[in-house]
Amino acid sequence: MTNGIKKIALLTGGGDCPGLNAVIRAVTKSAILNYGYEVIGYKFGYRGLYNNDFIPLNLSTVSGLLSKGGTILYSSNKDNLFDYAVEENGVNIKKDVSDIAVENLKKEGVDVLIVIGGDGTLTSARDFARKGVNVIGVPKTIDNDLGSTDITFGFNTSLEVATEALDRLHTTAESHHRIMILEVMGRNAGFIALESGIAGSASVILLPEIPYDINKIAEKIEERKKNGKLFTIIVAAEGAKPKNGEVMVAKIVADSPDPIRLGGIGNKIAADLEKIVKEREVRCTVLGHIQRGGTTCTFDRILSTRYGVAAVELINEGKFGSMVCLKGNDITYDSLENVIGNNKKVDPNGELVTIAKKIGISFAD
Ligand code: F6P
Repeated sequence: MTNGIKKIALLTGGGDCPGLNAVIRAVTKSAILNYGYEVIGYKFGYRGLYNNDFIPLNLSTVSGLLSKGGTILYSSNKDNLFDYAVEENGVNIKKDVSDIAVENLKKEGVDVLIVIGGDGTLTSARDFARKGVNVIGVPKTIDNDLGSTDITFGFNTSLEVATEALDRLHTTAESHHRIMILEVMGRNAGFIALESGIAGSASVILLPEIPYDINKIAEKIEERKKNGKLFTIIVAAEGAKPKNGEVMVAKIVADSPDPIRLGGIGNKIAADLEKIVKEREVRCTVLGHIQRGGTTCTFDRILSTRYGVAAVELINEGKFGSMVCLKGNDITYDSLENVIGNNKKVDPNGELVTIAKKIGISFAD
């Protein structure tokens, strides 16, 4: 034991993501085998911290977890303890209950809290760090939109799923001479659409960062027809929007800190396109949460393991208030103060958009 640290706690917050269990496993194994720390896991994200609801984590609890999607600690994307829904005198109000969480950590003798999450969860992690809690963040999200890191864990698994879906759509689209749209996740960032679109050989990629012109999509379909290709594959990010238009909102989750759930743009494009490309059917597949579930891909198993081990090393070095990151091929870290508020977006003039355009992929811009 070094640094006076004896006990660490983990929690997983926000939408689940392939690789969460792999991080839990790596942190637990590395903490116990190298430093002899005691490890516990709070259940349901910050709600478990508020309710002091946790399980002990040891070498046997984390055995067999590496490839398994989801999180054995469960998750919640509704429980911001700095603005928490409570009932007082029969009235539902929102209030800052973060002091209760800090008290619970003290009561259990937790020296360090490792928070595995995306920007919402890590914003609270930063706020707990500001209150003096020893916090380390681990960047999770299939959207790959967190600042300071090149790649979040989970992103590559969702890419594998979206790419396989595009491969499968190709064969059926070709058989029926159809125009097939795949709507993928990613919130306000187009990384999943861009990279799966390139890997899955889409002819049109629609991103939140590059508003589209429906007539330009129709032009691409026409160009392919002239070249004897009577089918077209389009991948649309859920946050894609037409020029001078708005994003499509599928649902408002009122009690979530980030209440807007995007979705529906794929079906809108299908309906709009059918009015222009009259002689052929346009169909839309919404990939949805399939992108987040199931087995974790090889890249994410390794990245999650690297992140988990690095998080424990940061504890040993006393680098609190920071998040582990991947820069190029190297694992490093940055302050949560720099991470939050600096979400990434696809660069419309970046290398991947440029190479995609050079091989004839349309962004309908
Ligand atoms: O942030 C991950 C993500 O899967 C987004 O891509 C998507 O917009 C959102 O979460 C969906 O959230 P929920 O699980 O609440 O439907």
